[in-house]
Amino acid sequence: MYGAIRNLLFRLPPEQAHNFALSGLDLADRFGLLKALAPKFDACPVNVMGLEFPNPVGLAAGLDKNADHLDALGALGFGFIEVGTVTPLAQPGNPKPRMFRLPEHQAIINRMGFNNEGLEHMLARIDKRRYQGILGINVGKNKDTPNEESESDYRKGIAAVYSRADYITVNVSSPNTPGLRDLQFGDSLKRLLDAVKDEQGKCVANTSRYVPIAVKIAPDMDDEGIRFVAQALRNSGLDGVIATNTTIGRDAVQGHPHADEAGGLSGAPVREPSLRVIKGLYAELGEDLPIIGVGGITDGESAAEKIQAGAKLVQIYTGFIYRGPALIKEAVEAIRKLQ
Ligand SMILES: Cc1cc2nc3c(=O)[nH]c(=O)nc-3n(C[C@H](O)[C@H](O)[C@H](O)COP(=O)(O)O)c2cc1C
Repeated sequence: MYGAIRNLLFRLPPEQAHNFALSGLDLADRFGLLKALAPKFDACPVNVMGLEFPNPVGLAAGLDKNADHLDALGALGFGFIEVGTVTPLAQPGNPKPRMFRLPEHQAIINRMGFNNEGLEHMLARIDKRRYQGILGINVGKNKDTPNEESESDYRKGIAAVYSRADYITVNVSSPNTPGLRDLQFGDSLKRLLDAVKDEQGKCVANTSRYVPIAVKIAPDMDDEGIRFVAQALRNSGLDGVIATNTTIGRDAVQGHPHADEAGGLSGAPVREPSLRVIKGLYAELGEDLPIIGVGGITDGESAAEKIQAGAKLVQIYTGFIYRGPALIKEAVEAIRKLQ
C-alpha cells in the first residue's frame, strides 16, 4: 500500500511531497485510519538512558521539526520520536529548492538549514499532543548566533524543553548551518559540553527530574576525531551519543545529476560511514555511554548491524521515506532476532 502512495508522492517536488504526506497522515489519524497503515508487531522493550523504550527503532530528527505531527507519527509503531531541530527563534532556513531525491541510491540530499518555528511554537504543539510515547527533543542554534555565543542558544533550548522531553539531543552536526560542525572539535566541544552539563544540573535542581542529554555527531570524522569526541563525552558526564547526522561526502553518488548539490547526504550512502563512527565510538566507550545509531537504515539487516556494532537504539529517516512504516517492523524484527 505504501508503494502506491509513494509513487504518487514522488511525482511532487520533495519538500512539497513531504508536507503533503505529513498533512495526509494527520488527516488519516484524525479519522482513525492509521491502523491500516501501521505495521503490527510485538513489543521489543529495551532500557536505555534510564528510559523504557517499547522497541529500539525511533524516528530521527528533522522529519517533524516543529512537533506538528506527533500524534500521527506516534501511531505508526516507532519506539520513540525525536522532534526538531528547534532553535530558540523561528528562522526560515535556506532558499528552496533545498531537498533532492536520489532514488537510484535510496538517498536524499538536503540543505534545509534548520527551518523551524522556534521554541515557543514547539512547546505549544507538544502541550497539545495525545502521543504518550517517548519524546526526544533536538535543539540547535540560530544561524545568526555566532559560534562563540552558541552556548547561550543551547542553554535556552535545554531550559525551555526540559520539562517536556524524555531526552534532549544537542545537535552539533548539521552541515547546513555555517560553522556548526566546528563545535564537535577541540576546546569548542569541551566548553559546549560543560555548558550543557551545567544547564542540565540547573534544570534538575528546578524540576527535581533528571532528563538525559545526548549529543548528535557527524559521520565525517577521522579515527582521531571519533576518539576525541568519545573521550570528551565520557568526561562530560552526558548521557548518550547519536551517530550520525548526514554526510558531506559524495563518493557513493558520483555522477548523479544531484551529486553536486550542497548539503547533507542521507540514506543508503551514509550506512557505511555511520557504521564506522559507531564502531569507533564503541571501541572507545564500550558500555560506558549508550550509542544511538542512525544513518542509512533501509532494511532489517542495516538496522541489526548497528546494534551488533554497539548501538543500543536506532533511528530512521530517509529509509522511512523510501520504505514507509513497514521498515519499522522489519527493523524491530531483525533486532529482536539478535537477542
Ligand atoms: C530532509 C532532512 C532533514 C533533516 N533535518 C535534521 C535536523 O533538523 N536535525 C538533525 O539532527 N538531523 C536532521 N536530519 C538528519 C537525520 O536525522 C539523520 O541523522 C540522517 O538523515 C541519517 O539518517 P537516514 O540515513 O536514516 O536519513 C535531517 C535529514 C533529512 C534527510
